[in-house]
Amino acid sequence: MIPLSLYIHIPWCIRKCPYCDFNSHQAPTELPESEYIKALLDDLKQEVSQIENRAISSIFIGGGTPSLFTAKSIDTLLAGINQICTLDKDIEITLEANPGTFEQQRFNDYRLAGINRLSIGIQSYNSDHLKVLGRVHNADEAIVAAQIAHQAGFDNFNLDLMFGLPKQTTTQALSDLQQAIDCNPSHLSWYQLTLEPNTLFHHNPPQLPDHESQWDIQQAGQVLLAKEGYEQYEVSAYALKQQMCQHNFNYWEFGDYIGIGAGAHGKLTDSSGVITRHQKYRQPKQYLEHASKGEFRSSSKELLTKELPFEFMLNALRLKSGVNKTVYQERTGQPLSSVQRLIEQAKTKGLLQYSDEQIVCTEQGWRFLDDTSSLFL
Ligand SMILES: C[S@@+](CC[C@H](N)C(=O)[O-])C[C@H]1O[C@@H](n2cnc3c(N)ncnc32)[C@H](O)[C@@H]1O
Ligand code: SF4
Repeated sequence: MIPLSLYIHIPWCIRKCPYCDFNSHQAPTELPESEYIKALLDDLKQEVSQIENRAISSIFIGGGTPSLFTAKSIDTLLAGINQICTLDKDIEITLEANPGTFEQQRFNDYRLAGINRLSIGIQSYNSDHLKVLGRVHNADEAIVAAQIAHQAGFDNFNLDLMFGLPKQTTTQALSDLQQAIDCNPSHLSWYQLTLEPNTLFHHNPPQLPDHESQWDIQQAGQVLLAKEGYEQYEVSAYALKQQMCQHNFNYWEFGDYIGIGAGAHGKLTDSSGVITRHQKYRQPKQYLEHASKGEFRSSSKELLTKELPFEFMLNALRLKSGVNKTVYQERTGQPLSSVQRLIEQAKTKGLLQYSDEQIVCTEQGWRFLDDTSSLFL
């Protein structure tokens, strides 16, 4: 059975960061929390009515800034989900939280509501960089965030950090990383800042470290993370032993997921093996308006058989452990031998290694991941 996850999108933030292209919007003075929670639960009911009784293996409440929502709202949401669908006994339930939007009591209450993993958006511990990034928190709040998480009893939490920040030196980037490690998170997501279309940074680009410095930062950072016991298992994800993010792992292994909330995506495989991608109405206001009429999906698209190899590889080759033959067959409905010719080509180019059971990117293949996955187009 293909694992099934649930993604819940909360689309509001205190303000929009200049580098961000996520579906996030400056929050109105009063958040329509209860209206939105009701819409999310109606959205989920409709999704669940279209699948057989499959258990959910992970939940991720992402954004946006979910920690703008009170613990009471999160409690109502999780209680509602529990009534609508079957949850695995040891389910991972993550909530994204931004420093500057929570205090100790809120984290304590999230935990009581059933959240068992946090993902905290630190980005940097350097006040100047935090300002340039337009973040609402300062360096002190970034440090305190992890302490609050520990005190609330969250052993399992992730810190999001970015590197390659405007005018950032290698020393500064490593200092950020060391400070994050000193907070003892079980997981670290370490992203290189990219200039995304439709962001303020794209229209008015800041001066980023040059190619060589970015490479130096990445190499030195990876050495530091490995020395401290954080194993890289995906392009940007590092975890202490056995503490990988189950939810993201399911995306990368081309598992199924329901997406509820404004602009959320879903991917579902039906009993005859047909895979369909769905998207929800994107603007929060539009989502709520449609929700009041019982409409949630703005589009659905069936994946064609010929699209599956690329769709699978695009995700799975991000994993350091690569692609397993059985998983490929289970998730695409096709034997791995159907793309044997493409695998051989990638091998000849030095991008992939292949044994009987597993395909793994070479170092070169991982460095030029877009080229490697494009071979399966
Ligand atoms: C879904 S986002 C938002 C999480 C949370 N709202 C926050 O910003 O703290 C998850 C992570 O993606 C990363 N991210 C967002 N925009 C990025 C960009 N342009 N380049 C690299 N990483 C980015 C940030 O580290 C962010 O924490
Ligand atoms: S807080 Fe996160 S989601 Fe919100 S605008 Fe900033 S980066 Fe985007």
